[in-house]
Amino acid sequence: MSGRTATPDLALVQPGGAAADDALARGAALAVRGLTVSYGAAPAVFSVDASFPSAAMSAIIGPNGAGKSTLLKAALGVIPRLSGTVQVAGVPLDRARDRIAYVPQRASVDWDFPATVRDVVQMGFYRRLGLFGRLTGADRARTVACLDRVGMADFADRQIGQLSGGQQQRVFLARALAQEAELYLLDEPFAGVDAATERAIIDVLRGLRDDGRAVVAVHHDLATVRDYFDHVFLMNTRAIAEGPVARAFTAAALEAAYGGRLGATHLAGLAG
Ligand SMILES: Nc1ncnc2c1ncn2[C@@H]1O[C@H](COP(=O)(O)OP(=O)(O)OP(=O)(O)O)[C@@H](O)[C@H]1O
Ligand SMILES: [Mg+2]
Repeated sequence: MSGRTATPDLALVQPGGAAADDALARGAALAVRGLTVSYGAAPAVFSVDASFPSAAMSAIIGPNGAGKSTLLKAALGVIPRLSGTVQVAGVPLDRARDRIAYVPQRASVDWDFPATVRDVVQMGFYRRLGLFGRLTGADRARTVACLDRVGMADFADRQIGQLSGGQQQRVFLARALAQEAELYLLDEPFAGVDAATERAIIDVLRGLRDDGRAVVAVHHDLATVRDYFDHVFLMNTRAIAEGPVARAFTAAALEAAYGGRLGATHLAGLAG
């Protein structure tokens, strides 16, 4: 897009030209182009171009209110876009929704409905089965396998509301696994979980990546970006920088995203 270098912020987006962008978007697991989303007068996401590769773990990074959750929800099609396109592996979103699994930001979920852990995981099958489809024996076995993968098989009959926050997060991940998606979108999967759960979740996500899937996670802990992720997208309403972690996760990009909110020493310790 020609307007991308119009402001100093956007100059940090890696140059490559429209042709290179389009080639990238075609090969990307998820590509958004010219995405603008607004809840009211001011846009929460403005004119964002972003591509996320398959067989990679990508982080979406930016301060509170930067539009990260909004970007994910627009990529899922659960909130309307003012403008822009979303493609999943080169296919328009409308024809690709069943390829996406989503783990929402924890605080946004109301856990007061009566459902067991098993029910929640089996919701992952509904898109394939339809509302009245019957679960097969293979589906039931897969439910247990997905719970086992996140260390929650012993809790299958427990009410979801009677689990701790970290346990609920694991169950939501099991539901996403049950979907057997190509693209996994996770909104702050590590928020409020203990070190063991964080380790369990990262192991599962790495397994998906190594299996060729795309994992895209909103992530706040800047200290673990280099360890956990292959690719980053920094934003603050607008796109700020994207690319492989080694190239795009820089002090300049963090400064542009967070403004003065991160001290210089802190920045120097985090990024190259
Ligand atoms: N349903 C809504 N109605 C109105 N405004 C909203 C709504 N959801 C989000 N916003 C606003 O849109 C902007 C972006 O919100 P969003 O939740 O996408 O940010 P975020 O980057 O995910 O932040 P956080 O790190 O705090 O989760 C914020 O200014 C927020 O107040
Ligand atoms: Mg959010």
